[in-house]
Amino acid sequence: MVNYKELGLVNSRELFKKAIKGQYAIPAFNFNDMEQLQAIIQACVEESSPVILQVSSGARKYANQTLLRYMAQGAVEYAKELGKNIPVVLHLDHGDTFELCKSCIEYGFSSVMIDGSHHSYNENVELTRKVVEYAHKYDVTVEGELGVLAGIEDDVVAEHHTYTQPEEVEDFVSKTGVDSLAISIGTSHGANKFKPDQCTRDAGGALLPPPLRFDILEEVERRIPGFPIVLHGASSVPAKYVDIINRNGGKLKDAIGIPEEQLRRAAQSAVCKINIDSDGRLAMTAAIRQTFGEHPEWFDPRQYLGPAREWLKELYKHKVVGVLGSAGKA
Ligand code: G3H
Ligand code: 13P
Ligand code: ZN
Repeated sequence: MVNYKELGLVNSRELFKKAIKGQYAIPAFNFNDMEQLQAIIQACVEESSPVILQVSSGARKYANQTLLRYMAQGAVEYAKELGKNIPVVLHLDHGDTFELCKSCIEYGFSSVMIDGSHHSYNENVELTRKVVEYAHKYDVTVEGELGVLAGIEDDVVAEHHTYTQPEEVEDFVSKTGVDSLAISIGTSHGANKFKPDQCTRDAGGALLPPPLRFDILEEVERRIPGFPIVLHGASSVPAKYVDIINRNGGKLKDAIGIPEEQLRRAAQSAVCKINIDSDGRLAMTAAIRQTFGEHPEWFDPRQYLGPAREWLKELYKHKVVGVLGSAGKA
């Protein structure tokens, strides 16, 4: 057992308190490899932003649990070396069992999500309560979820979303003791967040997604004032990356994300953690495809992973400065 405090990590409690008060959101960037981690830390140090390093169970299998623990510790030390001791959280994304959450806590995670949203309400309460009871012994913070997002949640694929029912939130929060709550207000995972027939079109023919259900968010805030709310599925799917990918041999069809102005509005509410994975995947893939197109003779991974890391860094800086408002809050 290694406690996250020994690794220089922090849990999310204080970060969320400050974010709600200061009307901004902490970025939760998913990572699987060294270049993504370097880009996240470089961007957040340069913009002086607190950061949540987010690891899915698939990422944990891909990277290896032991390596991840040292990577997270390395990230804290790397930030200091770059000149800023920013708060770093290591968070399990979409944990689906008590055993997985327990194992992550034993390997140095400072925060875990137990996603019981696919179970019945009572089973979700029971599972979440059990994880909270264990996690709090080690001062690890816990995120729960109410409502189902459409798209892919790790191994679970939901065809349709079910919006969070605000009348459940007080009961859920008080029975489980969770530290934060992910809600479903119309975001979804992946790069195809809406089907074309769910969208309207602007004058130029571009798809316009349906607006997020801010009415549900406001009702949740009214019922549990000041309680930290989390938005999953919050990538914007920038057209510039999709175009570069498709111009360089990719085949992404009907890619569409959440408009940035809606995320800016959410970040100023009780939403204090915003999850971004797909945009990083798109930036990285766009950089690599473009580099391969321009330099078919290159075969040293540093020649294409280096640009990918730069594009990621630029993306993350844009998120913390221009969307989430967390720049300068470390
Ligand atoms: O919410 C899901 C995240 O984007 C993680 O995706 O399970 O493919 O690593 P993954
Ligand atoms: P995106 O697919 O929109 O990036 O969402 C990521 C996420 O919610 C991770 O939990
Ligand atoms: Zn998610």
